[in-house]
Amino acid sequence: MEAVEKYDFSAVRWFSIMAVIYLVVGTLVGFYIAAELAWPVLNLDLPYTTFGRLRPLHTNAVIFAFGGCTLMATAFYSVQRTCSTRIWSPGMAWFTFWGWNLIIVAAVITLPLGITQGKEYAELEWPIDIAIAVVWLSFLINFVMTLVKKKTSHIYVSNWFFLGMLIMITYLHVVNSLAIPVSLFNSYSIFSGVQDAMIQWWWGHNAVGFYLTAGFLGIMYYFVPKQANRPIYSYRLSVIHFWALMFGYVWLGAHHLQYTALPDWTGSLGAAVSIAMIIPSWGGAVNGMMTLSGAWDKLRDDYILRFMIVSLAFYAMSTFEGPVMSVKTVNALSHYTDWTIGHVHSGALGWVAMVAAGALYHLVEKLWNTKMYSAKLVNTHFWFATIGTVVYITAMWVSGIMQGLMWRDYDEFGTLSYTFAESVAAMMPYYKMRAVGGLIFWLGGVFMLYNVIMTIRQAPNSNSKGGE
Ligand code: HEM
Ligand code: HEM
Repeated sequence: MEAVEKYDFSAVRWFSIMAVIYLVVGTLVGFYIAAELAWPVLNLDLPYTTFGRLRPLHTNAVIFAFGGCTLMATAFYSVQRTCSTRIWSPGMAWFTFWGWNLIIVAAVITLPLGITQGKEYAELEWPIDIAIAVVWLSFLINFVMTLVKKKTSHIYVSNWFFLGMLIMITYLHVVNSLAIPVSLFNSYSIFSGVQDAMIQWWWGHNAVGFYLTAGFLGIMYYFVPKQANRPIYSYRLSVIHFWALMFGYVWLGAHHLQYTALPDWTGSLGAAVSIAMIIPSWGGAVNGMMTLSGAWDKLRDDYILRFMIVSLAFYAMSTFEGPVMSVKTVNALSHYTDWTIGHVHSGALGWVAMVAAGALYHLVEKLWNTKMYSAKLVNTHFWFATIGTVVYITAMWVSGIMQGLMWRDYDEFGTLSYTFAESVAAMMPYYKMRAVGGLIFWLGGVFMLYNVIMTIRQAPNSNSKGGE
């Protein structure tokens, strides 16, 4: 009972439940837009359901709704456990919960209506942007103040990763969203031309680097050792990983803008630092995996741990692929093609969603003081997620490289060998294959939701604060 006063996990429980729901909803929209590309009739000839409007709904749902709730659940949980103290303000955690969910509702309404700033991963209009800043700050303040009242002697490394994400995302979001409103639902960025592009991709890449990577590494550094019941392989390596990512990532944005009006040297700099990032990224992946050194047998029956370790393999893979794609000669082929989409989803499905699923299963067991309703179903989810991811990314790699090669192929007279429409027609089998991969991945998420609901329903009456 001592834990009842020590921690307050009430908001964490709801963040966890919403994360699983948003995983299912966000990937369902992903599956639908994938099917629209394979079978265009699904656009339904309605503006609200066209690919162009549903695509940002998918990205916002998976990144900010699913990813955001996962980060908030895991950060508020692990900061209390590692600092051996109660959250600074349980009321403020509830404010973050309701605020974030209202923002998600606003996105669900405005994006299909076509209300957008037209900036990728920053589509939401200015009133919602202000709400995001306020709610995000409430997350940051509560997290920092909990760190301040910690009862342990040092700050565990997972908290450094969460803190890095919280600070960087605050200022990236605020700067990239600076705009002059002209009406309630319309505004113009204060940046123009090439500066606007540069600021946008400084945000865009760091949304990947700090939100989808540093934040989820915070999750990895807490939940992998916990689930494996072993200390992290090398604490020193984790600290090097942290500082290298913090200093490196901010320089990468220009690799999204190779061969554009941006000065050439910015793209070269972006590529050079991108390549350097392989070292800390792989250091981190190895650090997580080697935590199992001498205890690999755990993977045989701990299905939750399987999610985490396989996610690290995908993390290593996508952080090798990304630097390769940043090189100008490679980017000349990969940019604008499905190869980029394959890279995105090897990171997003293989790394982000898999490590999140592992952490959420761990959390559900801890928060409701029980074991998962069906361990077998966790394993089934694991295989559906892994196979779905592999089918998705393989289809995109093949189609992307084929697309790039078709576009640059010309005959002995210097005429392009293929029209653009021919390259689109060649994509169709791969779009169908991607939709099948997406469906498999989505079904895994449905199993997870069912398993979580059944687990909570059969859980013994644990205390209302959700402590162990
Ligand atoms: C060292 C690590 C990484 C580097 C250097 C890197 C590099 C790149 C490059 C060069 C592109 C293509 C840019 C273009 O041609 O437009 C790209 C796109 C992308 N990457 Fe990575 N990547 C890394 C890791 C990751 C990870 C782990 C994730 C996911 C969690 C990820 C998500 C994305 C996304 C979402 C895009 C697409 C952006 C867009 O055009 O909308 N990347 N990355
Ligand atoms: C069932 C699973 C999923 C399916 C079927 C799916 C499908 C898609 C499709 C069809 C696109 C548009 C590609 C294009 O424009 O050609 C897309 C874009 C994107 N998705 Fe997913 N997705 C899934 C899960 C996820 C998850 C879990 C995340 C993040 C955690 C994610 C992040 C993204 C991002 C960042 C983009 C934009 C990529 C870019 O602009 O380069 N997706 N997705």
